[in-house]
Amino acid sequence: MAFDLKALLRPHIANIKPYSSARDEYSGKEGIFLDANENPFGSATAEDFNRYPDPYQWAIKEKLAIVKDVRPNQIFIGNGSDEAIDLLIRAFCRPGKDNVILLPPTYGMYEVSAEINDIQIKKVNLSADYQLRPDAILAATDEFTKIIFICSPNNPSGNKVVREDIRKILENFKGLVVVDEAYTDFSDEPSFTTELDQYPNLLVMQTFSKAWGLASLRLGMAFASPEIIKILNLIKPPYNISGLTQQKALEALEGKEKMESLVKDILLEREYLWQELTHLEFVLHIYPSHANFLLVKVTAARKIYDFLIDSQIIVRDRSKVLLCDDCLRISVGTREENVALIKTLKKFPVVG
Ligand SMILES: Cc1ncc(COP(=O)(O)O)c(C=O)c1O
Repeated sequence: MAFDLKALLRPHIANIKPYSSARDEYSGKEGIFLDANENPFGSATAEDFNRYPDPYQWAIKEKLAIVKDVRPNQIFIGNGSDEAIDLLIRAFCRPGKDNVILLPPTYGMYEVSAEINDIQIKKVNLSADYQLRPDAILAATDEFTKIIFICSPNNPSGNKVVREDIRKILENFKGLVVVDEAYTDFSDEPSFTTELDQYPNLLVMQTFSKAWGLASLRLGMAFASPEIIKILNLIKPPYNISGLTQQKALEALEGKEKMESLVKDILLEREYLWQELTHLEFVLHIYPSHANFLLVKVTAARKIYDFLIDSQIIVRDRSKVLLCDDCLRISVGTREENVALIKTLKKFPVVG
């Protein structure tokens, strides 16, 4: 099915003249900079942050391109993945007219962003084993459907989505398919970034918040065709990633082994937690996880949640979420944290 990016884009966006920042107009590093109304003397902090940062974060993209095996112009860096989600909706969906397809149970920000932008939401539930129903998804699309959001590994279920199902949607939908891979580093499934050149309607999202351990920096990545990336760059705030964040991201990318070792630790702890949870009488099912959390079906989710809170152990009660009845979502902690969790759970009074 032919993909026509220009037809998909909101018409007025195609004609927007982007804000031209001082750093856009002159990007050289040497000189006397009197063009951006910065403070020439320094900063009110020990370290200086008085100069505006690179609006396109090229140093990060050069390094990230090597790590992810893509080209720098296929990368967008956002203030968390949430910025990319919002920009995509604003670029492609006309308020009050267009719609997006969401696949519950899934990550909540797609719905929030769509609602904020007054975009209609069509929901096609996942199957009981949290897989896509490609035919139902495709049947739900209409001429106003602009984006389908797929999350793999999925939050809150933790499973990876069958690759062929995603391909079927990419091949039969003329809008944009977003594959959110926030948890990809905890999975053995290759990233969909390897298929970018094959599918012009594919955008893959990843984040520095999970495997890289940088949630506080707010740094999300989107990978797509240079044409789609150009659109995101056109409508983003000029300096969306702070200089400090850029500095830290470069530091992280230079020490990729640290991230790999963090992932290894989490995978070991995920296995430990899994093993320990299976021994608990009130644990009914632990869903297979390709992420850094476990979705656990228990006999009395709210009671167990409250019981843990009393010991200042906080998990996520997902029992009100579709297809997640009586489920808790437990992030994998350190060994110490996991031991404390299990120790407390063992004290939960099972009735009957
Ligand atoms: C599926 C998914 N995507 C994106 C995010 C958010 O990522 P970021 O911290 O980059 O905004 C989360 C956070 O929990 C998530 O679960």
